[in-house]
This record gives sequence, structure tokens and C-alpha cells, in this order.
Amino acid sequence: MSGAWRHPWEGEGWRWAAPRLPDPNSSRACGLGPSLSHQGRGDVEAIRQMPSHSGLITVMDRAARRAAPKLRRDFNEVQHLQVSRKGPADFVSAADQATEQTLYEELKKARPDWGFLGEEGGTRAGDPAKPRWIVDPIDGTSNFLHGIPHFAISIAVEEPRPDGRGEVTQGLVYQPLTDESFWAEKGRGAWLQDKRLRVSARRELTEALVATGIPFAGHGDFAEWTRIFAAIGPEVAGIRRFGSAALDLAWVAAGRFDAYWESDLKPWDVAAGLLLVKEAGGFVTDYRGSDRPMDRNEFLAANDGLHSKLHKLVAQALRKERPKAE
Ligand code: IPD
Ligand code: CA
Ligand code: CA
Repeated sequence: MSGAWRHPWEGEGWRWAAPRLPDPNSSRACGLGPSLSHQGRGDVEAIRQMPSHSGLITVMDRAARRAAPKLRRDFNEVQHLQVSRKGPADFVSAADQATEQTLYEELKKARPDWGFLGEEGGTRAGDPAKPRWIVDPIDGTSNFLHGIPHFAISIAVEEPRPDGRGEVTQGLVYQPLTDESFWAEKGRGAWLQDKRLRVSARRELTEALVATGIPFAGHGDFAEWTRIFAAIGPEVAGIRRFGSAALDLAWVAAGRFDAYWESDLKPWDVAAGLLLVKEAGGFVTDYRGSDRPMDRNEFLAANDGLHSKLHKLVAQALRKERPKAE
């Protein structure tokens, strides 16, 4: 580690102390435990909201937290490398690979016969009758590379289905710099640590803060994105491009963003985030309104009221003819 300045996460200094997930084997995890009694006012609400989860969430949360300290140290190092002649690119790619390897080892330890799909290492086969992990070790790599503190680890469980389409049943998005663990389990809701998440209740476009992903060099359809942007932009309170699809979706689930659209993503970008939005009561479709957004690789996520309004705008934008080439 070069330089005298130390990042707060390295020392005993500032750290945002987020509550950990309850142990699934403890009575607290099923909302019955006496350990709630100290919480005073709001106990009833707390009991009602106490998460119960399968234990896989604990495995995923633990794996992410095992990988996080090195990621935080690497992020600190990247900030120093910005001004070096070589730049941080190789260093970041090594950090990406090392994080994925840690996640792979941790998850493999817990479920030795499951397959693994990771952005860095591709597919590692497992028992086809068993679920597989879908992992993005750093979602928001460009942010990481530029020393911008907005990136996350994304882990999902995809179960095999007889029709050959996998179904994501668990998802976790962990943001190492804020220690926030967003997680969802099919049928059990979406949570931020032990707090139940709901998508925002805003109904008016003029109040909506909308996230998006913008195509970039060699990636995505810029003309299409521009048409959608031109349709949505004048109607809403604001548009944000923060650079992590996993966090964009987690933040829609948490009601921080009211909606999100993006296309041309990979399964590891969105597997966990899509489940978070659905379990938080949101809608996710493609730009045509199909609830299988992975098929066309287009994603429009929001609460139901805003979703139908935004979908109309997107559909109008896509009906408009592409400008003719000169
Ligand atoms: C990227 C982020 C970004 C999205 C890109 C993705 P990466 O993933 O999710 O928000 O717009 O399309 O590739 O490369 O940072 O893992
Ligand atoms: Ca990604
Ligand atoms: Ca990545």
C-alpha cells in the first residue's frame, strides 16, 4: 500500500455499521425469538418484518463479505493508481478475477456440486439437475477503475426447470463500501439486511427519478437509447446513469429510484437485481411489455403505475422511424 493516507475502512475509523443478516438457524430468523424484546416501540412491526430465509442467503451474504475486504483495499489502491503512468486497468482486472475466485471458492465450499457462471471465468459445469450460481464479482467496473465509490458484488441462484429455462430463486447485491446487503428470495420478499423493501409508491412521472444504462463504445444501440431518452427525459423528475445495473435494480427495489431501463446486459448484471425488484412488488418487462425481459435483453422496471406510463413512452419512441442515413 503506497502513501500515508489511509482509507477509513482500513483502520479503526469510520465504518457504516449495517446490521447483519440474522442466522437462519436462530429463533430470531423466524420472527419468534425473545431477542426482539429489547427493541421497544415498533416491536410488532419488527416481528412482522423479520426475514425468514432459506440459509442460501446466508451462504451468499457470507461469500460476499469474505470477498469485500480485499475489494475495499484494492479500491483504495486504484485511487492511487489513477495518476500513475501505467494506469489501473491491469490492476482492476486482477482484482475482478481475484474477487470472483474468492466467491467461487466460498460458494463451492457450501454447495460442491453446483455449477457456476461468472463474468470472469465463464461457465464451470456442475450437476445439471442442481441449481447454479450466477456471479458478477464487480458490477460497476468502470466506476471502480476510475476510483468512483459505486460498485457491487452480485450473486444469484438459478434453478433448473424442465422447459430448460432456469429460474432465479435467490439474489443478493452487496455494496462493499456501504456494507449494504440487498437480498431477495422467491416468495419471501426483498430485503436490505433485515428491513423489508418495497418499490416506491410514486405514481406521477413528474416525481419519478429514473435510472438507466447508456450504451458505450462498441456496446449497445445508441440510437435506440437516445430515442427512449428523448421520450422519457422531458416527462420525469430526473434521469441518472450511475454505472452499476445490479445497484440500479437494487435501488429500484429499495424505492430510491422509481424506475430503470437498459438493454444489452448479461445474466450476471441483472440476475439478482431483477428478483429484488419483483420481490419488492415491482414490475419488470422488456420494451414491448413481455414479462420475459431476458429473451429480448431489454429491461424496464418500475412500480405498476409508473411502469405502464413509461412503457407507453418507450413504445412510442420505438415506433418512431429511425432517421434515414444520408
Ligand atoms: C456493467 C454495469 C453497467 C452497465 C453495463 C454493464 P460491469 O457491468 O452493469 O451499469 O451499463 O452494460 O456491462 O462491466 O461493470 O460488470
Ligand atoms: Ca456487470
Ligand atoms: Ca463485472
